[in-house]
Amino acid sequence: MRTDITFASPAGLSTELLAVLALDTQTAKGPDARPAPELLTADAAVKSAAAAVLASGEFKAGANETVLLHAPAGLQAKRLLLVGLGKSSKATVHAVRTAAGTAVRYTKPRGLRELVFALPESDALPLPASARAAVEGAFVGDFDPDTYRSDRKDVSVQSFTVAAPPSADKSALEAAFREGVIIGESQNFTRSLVNEPGNVLTPTEFGKRAAAMAAEVGLQCEVHSTAKIKELKMGAFWSVSQGSEEPPALIVMRYEPEGVKDGPVLGLVGKGITFDTGGISIKPADNMEKMKYDMAGGGAMAGAMRAIALLKPRVRVLCIICASENMPDGKAQKPGDVQTAMSGKTIEIINTDAEGRLVLADGLSYARQLGATHLINAATLTGAIGVALGTVNAGAFSNNDDTYAKFNAALETSGEKFWRMPLGDEYAEMIKSDIGDIKNTGGRYGGAITAAEFLKVFAEDTPWIHLDIAGMAWIDENRPYIAKGPSGVAVRSILEWVRGYAS
Ligand code: BES
Ligand code: MN
Ligand code: ZN
Repeated sequence: MRTDITFASPAGLSTELLAVLALDTQTAKGPDARPAPELLTADAAVKSAAAAVLASGEFKAGANETVLLHAPAGLQAKRLLLVGLGKSSKATVHAVRTAAGTAVRYTKPRGLRELVFALPESDALPLPASARAAVEGAFVGDFDPDTYRSDRKDVSVQSFTVAAPPSADKSALEAAFREGVIIGESQNFTRSLVNEPGNVLTPTEFGKRAAAMAAEVGLQCEVHSTAKIKELKMGAFWSVSQGSEEPPALIVMRYEPEGVKDGPVLGLVGKGITFDTGGISIKPADNMEKMKYDMAGGGAMAGAMRAIALLKPRVRVLCIICASENMPDGKAQKPGDVQTAMSGKTIEIINTDAEGRLVLADGLSYARQLGATHLINAATLTGAIGVALGTVNAGAFSNNDDTYAKFNAALETSGEKFWRMPLGDEYAEMIKSDIGDIKNTGGRYGGAITAAEFLKVFAEDTPWIHLDIAGMAWIDENRPYIAKGPSGVAVRSILEWVRGYAS
């Protein structure tokens, strides 16, 4: 998708499709309720072209609601698409992001190749933030997961242009626009990784894709395998990999901006299980095919690193992705086995399907050994987080209120929804082992929390955030602004958290 920004007035733009946003301003219900939706443009010609449909009451400007007008009078555009932002209390910058996605997903299946998206003119919506969000939303909307369909039609929107008001601050908007391109493309990079089937994206292939991306954007990258994992005494990581014919990959990326020699070193750690059968504690067949997305945490870290390399915040970042299959072969670990993690802690394996915390335990220790002063990990860690929060919020846990405050601030910009979950000694009790230091499951109740408590042991005294994205990394039904399939959740929030530490 080509992207561009223009400061010309929307009425004069000749294009296949011009999209303009509208607010739902109704206070009463019913067909006679007034006033009509408010069009968020100062352009008189656009207003008059839309006046009749707005007055008709047929279009309520609900969030992501659309109405299309052909040959709009007085405009150069062949079509005018109105997209609803919802009620003014909900009409946030994030609503602009989804509205842009909706406009793109409206355009795509109709074979239209170009779209001009007029930024909303409203005091409540800062233009640079809206421009950035619109471009992000357009990339997100443009992605479809049908990579391997032979009848896949190339119906991508070829050109997406943001139209800013002629009076806007050009350089601020252009900078925001460029950020949006980088972030939108990075989120889609993550989604394309997560979308790959397990037979294509093995741990080795994950390493190759990360290395290729790193070379492209100028990150340092090393990809290690079995020998290094054993040399580092990553007994928890290796215990998961030992049951697979596919060798694991320990992917290490570094972003070291020139001249930044002190200050924090942020450690990003991702769960990269390229397929999770459950191991000897094997999963039921129903929905097992979904477990190709069990590397979505690692995928999110790769996407965030891509965006970091291109946006160049002044803070050092290192990234560790622990990539492995979780398989039940003759060499696989068994329930009851005891493993020694890199940190020296001993782990009693109760359920081989609780493998994510095992690979992350050693990933967190290694990030600390490499000098991370702050840690963030992302993982499709537990089904229990979906039971707790549904598919609306992802789970977040932290051992440190200051670093969590930075993450919370990041959500404001990213538009992503995370809900902070509790930790506590009573939960830590639930994973004490009789034979060793800890066990890898704590039973059904509070399953997402005991998993987080497990990770917390390996974060030790380093400020740490754990993101459990199991309920949010895969979308089961199409939405107006995003296709079903991999969501790319957490990329934008991790990026903003990192930027919050830039000097
Ligand atoms: N990868 C799964 C968690 C998962 C579940 C991700 C659903 C995405 C969707 C994880 O490795 C797992 O199997 N967790 C177990 C933990 C249990 C054995 C304590 C679970 O959630 O059932
Ligand atoms: Mn599992
Ligand atoms: Zn898993």
